[in-house]
Amino acid sequence: MLKGKKIVLGITGSIAAYKAVLLVRSLIKEGAEVKVIMTPAAKDFISPLTLSTLSKNPVLIDIFKEDTWANHVMLGRWADMMLVAPLSCNTLAKMAAGLCDNLLLSVYLSATCPVMLAPAMDEDMWKHPSTRQNLQTLASYGNSIVPVTNGELASGLFGEGRMAEPETIVEHLLQHFKNGGRLNGKKVLVTAGPTYEHIDPVRFIGNHSSGKMGVAIAREFLNRGADVTLVLGPAPGALPLDGLNVMRVQTAGEMYDACHQVFGETDIAIMAAAVADYSPVSVASEKIKKKEESWSVALKKTPDILKSLGQKKKENQVLAGFALETNNERENALAKLQQKNADIIVLNSLRDKDAGFGKDTNKVTIFDRKGREKNFDLKSKTAVAKDIVDYIIEYIHA
Ligand code: CTP
Repeated sequence: MLKGKKIVLGITGSIAAYKAVLLVRSLIKEGAEVKVIMTPAAKDFISPLTLSTLSKNPVLIDIFKEDTWANHVMLGRWADMMLVAPLSCNTLAKMAAGLCDNLLLSVYLSATCPVMLAPAMDEDMWKHPSTRQNLQTLASYGNSIVPVTNGELASGLFGEGRMAEPETIVEHLLQHFKNGGRLNGKKVLVTAGPTYEHIDPVRFIGNHSSGKMGVAIAREFLNRGADVTLVLGPAPGALPLDGLNVMRVQTAGEMYDACHQVFGETDIAIMAAAVADYSPVSVASEKIKKKEESWSVALKKTPDILKSLGQKKKENQVLAGFALETNNERENALAKLQQKNADIIVLNSLRDKDAGFGKDTNKVTIFDRKGREKNFDLKSKTAVAKDIVDYIIEYIHA
């Protein structure tokens, strides 16, 4: 059932638009609330009147209509899912390029909800390298793709490129919400960002962590209905924190205390923070003046938060950590899984170009306590977060 789910259905100019009628009817039958947006080209294939009658909502086409403005930002925030079906080759390319010359594209670009795409086109267009590339780009942004099928195409030829049948698309939606539903009410703890270990009032030992990976994971859990606490170190730059219970900390010691404060009530914990391994033995209360030619600071080990939670972990709790490595990656990740009594370790290597610290993309391999291991491609951190959350759900239900 899709009872109470709010769906924005985007329809583009493709012969498969006629199937959107059945799709809207099925969504309504499943209990969803549907708002339809059409591209101007879609009107040539199907009547807005049919769709507004079936969806019981006005069909939106123009950004500006006379003196009113269709608020694209609010539509993407209202929805639990934006589904584009059929997705034409043209709109697919525009989405991948970030263009927004119509209402559907503006809603897509500003949507904070998950996005599902059901492409439809002729086989030669489907197989063109630019379409392949565009589709990969959209998948890397975390959009789910409903695979096309084989069959008779609008050209009269037979081949790949037919939009999935409406019932298949509805099944994908049901699966999506079922996975999300599995997290409803679950309490999730995520750590993110660096820690700063103070030397004196003006200096600290820190690292280049941006906090983006941990925040993306926290947001993905939030999108799927979990109750998320984010323990966030002093990450530079603005991060999207709305909807999260945020505990701001500075040092490894403070992060340790915050995590232990909430861990007892936590179902799933993911330690994505880049915690400093050492902190100064003592913190000077005044700024240390420059005197000697050389200077050393005595350091002591910080508490290992992941390891300490691993020691406390109960049967029904899932604990995941990261391993940031530059060499012997697999060996080190597997050792961390054992030594820290984690259930899952997400490995990222600094040897992978465009992965890790400060970047918007990441490339991970996930290892788990049940002996499985899975490699993922280089993706945006949002898409990686989706993979990690899916992996954790599968791990729990395996
Ligand atoms: N971690 C932690 N507390 C620390 C250090 C690390 O909770 N004091 C967590 C990190 O959040 C991450 C995992 O442990 O989930 C692995 O961190 P990483 O820096 O890769 O490894 P370390 O345990 O610090 O070991 P090393 O630096 O020797 O690789």
